[in-house]
Amino acid sequence: MEEFDRKNHWEQIYQTKKPDEVSWYQPMPVTSLSFFDQYNVPKEAKIIDIGGGDSYLVDHLLNLGYKDITVLDISESSLERAKSRLGNRSGLVTWIVADAAIFKPIERYDFWHDRAAFHFLTKED
Ligand SMILES: C[S@@+](CC[C@H](N)C(=O)[O-])C[C@H]1O[C@@H](n2cnc3c(N)ncnc32)[C@H](O)[C@@H]1O
Repeated sequence: MEEFDRKNHWEQIYQTKKPDEVSWYQPMPVTSLSFFDQYNVPKEAKIIDIGGGDSYLVDHLLNLGYKDITVLDISESSLERAKSRLGNRSGLVTWIVADAAIFKPIERYDFWHDRAAFHFLTKED
C-alpha cells in the first residue's frame, strides 16, 4: 500500500467509527501496562507509543505519573480524538503525526511501545 493510501485508510477508520466500534478497543491496556512494571520504566523515562492512535495507554501512563510521553500515529484524527478525551492533560503529551516507516526521531527514547501497529509494516523498506 502506498503511503497516501495507508494514511487515508486510517483516517477513514477514525472518522467513521466510534472508539468502541474497533476490534482493538481496550479501555484498560493491561498487557502494555505490565511491560512498564516488568522493565521498571522510571517515571522520567522518555516514552514513545508508536501507532498509539486514540489508545487509552497514555491516560493510564499519565495517571501513573509518567512525565515524558510521546504518541505518534499516521492518523491525525486518531490523535485529535485522544487529545479531546484528555482535555487539559493533552498539553502534557507530545503528539506526532507521522508514518512510522519513514519517521526519523530527532530525540532518543528510552522506551518504545507498539500495540497492533508494527505488524502493518509488511514491506522490508
Ligand atoms: C490496530 S490500531 C492500534 C492502536 C493503538 N496502538 C491501540 O492499541 O489502541 C493500529 C494503529 O496504527 C496506526 N498506524 C498504522 N500504520 C501506521 C504507520 N505506518 N505509522 C504510524 N501509525 C500507523 C493506525 O493509525 C492505528 O492507530
